[in-house]
Amino acid sequence: MGATSVCGSSELGDQEVECEKVCCELTRWARMNRQAFEILHGERFEFGANWTRFLSVLDEERVNVATTSLCEKLNAETLAGKTFLDIGSGSGLFSLAARMLGARVYSFDYDPQSVACTGELKRRYFPGDDEWVVEQGSVLDRDYLSRMGQFDVVYSWGVLHHTGNMWEAFGNVEPLVRGGGKLFISIYNDQGGASRRWEMLKRLYNKNTLLRMPLTIYTLVRQWSITFLRDTLRGRPLASWKNYKNSRGMSAWHDAVDWIGGYPFEVARPEEVFDYFRKRNFLLENLKTCAGSIGCNEYVFTKGDPK
Ligand SMILES: C[S@@+](CC[C@H](N)C(=O)[O-])C[C@H]1O[C@@H](n2cnc3c(N)ncnc32)[C@H](O)[C@@H]1O
Repeated sequence: MGATSVCGSSELGDQEVECEKVCCELTRWARMNRQAFEILHGERFEFGANWTRFLSVLDEERVNVATTSLCEKLNAETLAGKTFLDIGSGSGLFSLAARMLGARVYSFDYDPQSVACTGELKRRYFPGDDEWVVEQGSVLDRDYLSRMGQFDVVYSWGVLHHTGNMWEAFGNVEPLVRGGGKLFISIYNDQGGASRRWEMLKRLYNKNTLLRMPLTIYTLVRQWSITFLRDTLRGRPLASWKNYKNSRGMSAWHDAVDWIGGYPFEVARPEEVFDYFRKRNFLLENLKTCAGSIGCNEYVFTKGDPK
């Protein structure tokens, strides 16, 4: 795994090390300010605030579901001896799952509140653990990524389409996977006109605080009314809503807020993602589509050994 500090360098003198530390602090501060500026101007959703609220409903059952789902998707019973990079760790739930499965984990997120959530899970489950690093960073920051080295598993679920430059992010994650390692990403499905309409609503949500509640209600109605009706006809009106946690340990409410708020927002068709990585020596091992609906398509690729 790469160095635990962004600034770490063993070949410099004391003064230069101090200087580099100051530069790193300034860079970190500038990054945080930029993120805050984007949120203030309605150009970015406060993902971390939503994850902070999610942590209040996080229980052992959700942690177990998340761990099981990670094993299933990676087709592995353990991650012992593996290195795991969680890009855009959000709540930190999947970093935690990977650490529980025995991996050495490196988590980072652009949003300081998401970083704090991941740090909080580390504090709750692995206090003082030096096999789990949590940092603030951006997947669009090549300089930052270049210090990390390569990983056995690179995990970035529902992140790269929220960066503001998804295709650049694809290019940046690719070298982080070691030859023979796995890349697990999930990317919003391209629904053509429907995706463009959702993008408009997401932009409105972030620009105008007064519209947030009505747009959240609209989203819930669009996403849940048919399911609710079907469940009601079966005599269990809230069954699917309650069972939602069986999908990756997530919460229906927090995912709905994440959906309507989640901005920047980009989409891709499965074949576009497949083609992009195939041309770069990645083999598709596992694909789960959202069957043409809104939501994410999940891809697990294995990187071919360098020729
Ligand atoms: C929908 S959440 C996904 C969280 C988590 N990966 C999961 O599976 O639950 C998206 C996360 O990506 C983060 N993010 C957005 N842009 C990013 C960037 N440029 N670099 C790193 N993380 C970013 C957000 O702050 C947010 O925490």
